[in-house]
Amino acid sequence: MSDHNQYGFETDAMTLQRFILQEQEKHPEASGEFTHLMTAMLVAVKAIASATQKAGLAKLYGIAGSTNVQGEEVKKLDILSNELMINMLKASTETCLLVSEENDELITVEERRRGNYIVCFDPLDGSSNIDSLISIGTIFGIFKRTSTVGDPNETDVLRPGKEMVAAGYALYGSATMVVLSLGDGVNGFTLDPSIGEFILTHRNMKCKPKGSTYSLNEGYAATWSKGIAQYINDRKFPPAGKKGMGQRYVGSMVADVHRTLLNGGIFLYPPTAAAPNGKLRLMYECNPMAFIMEHAGGIATTGKERILDIVPTKIHQRAPIILGSKQDVEEVLEYIQKYDL
Ligand code: AHM
Ligand code: MG
Repeated sequence: MSDHNQYGFETDAMTLQRFILQEQEKHPEASGEFTHLMTAMLVAVKAIASATQKAGLAKLYGIAGSTNVQGEEVKKLDILSNELMINMLKASTETCLLVSEENDELITVEERRRGNYIVCFDPLDGSSNIDSLISIGTIFGIFKRTSTVGDPNETDVLRPGKEMVAAGYALYGSATMVVLSLGDGVNGFTLDPSIGEFILTHRNMKCKPKGSTYSLNEGYAATWSKGIAQYINDRKFPPAGKKGMGQRYVGSMVADVHRTLLNGGIFLYPPTAAAPNGKLRLMYECNPMAFIMEHAGGIATTGKERILDIVPTKIHQRAPIILGSKQDVEEVLEYIQKYDL
């Protein structure tokens, strides 16, 4: 499908919008609302990517509420990202409820701007890494409203992740990428800053059945369960005849999951003493990543149950998470079965 002219320019690129439109054509009943929603969200993602690049120069680091030389309030990057996501999603007129990591309460959309979609998002995940210029990301999961009468409310949101219609993330790294699943495979799009468009660069992404890297914060080893501790120990000091694994941990979930998706392996944020239910949030961190991983052929579990089966009781609830290559996750589940259950 590649069509380059004599100057090396791609003249028929598959942009993210074009891709979604093409997917829409497969569903004659589709109204275009989802395409519209994604278009609005991509504006927020591009603006966050741009702000991330300029963060140091624009003084977007530091303390929220401080003022710049003109005496204007300077917004920290995470607050700016949250406002961009909320404003663009509301303005799309395709959403009725939003859940953001940055807002304690459910965000309702005023009636005149209401549509059928519910978006759960972490506007800037890994924000403790911003000042050290480490990759950060935006994570999102999208549900379609099922209730038809009355105002949308919490019961429209507290649904298992398997009911999402789409999920994905944006990674602001050495390049900006959006990885997206519409429930039918996983595709990756890289931002071409010269034209401001996301171009399909990673078609039909698959997570290898077995990888060679494990990824978790080893600083919490003292409070892991016996099963997790033994699994990691055997990867570091493999029993005779078994292969060990390398270790990588960025501490930014989007970067760690993206690497796991590309190269295979396993990412874990298990329960610890400080976080007995794990640290990561179900609705806008675990669910979207589990959706992507499953659609790429991998597994995502708490260690006891499939992430996408959990019926949430609170919008900000946490869940332990283990995800990645099928065989690697199955191996850790055997350890949990043997030592922890
Ligand atoms: P945040 O939402 O406050 O940024 O925290 C989430 C981040 C994840 O990106 C990452 O996987 C995890 O926290 C790292 O936590 P830890 O520093 O405990 O290893
Ligand atoms: Mg987060």
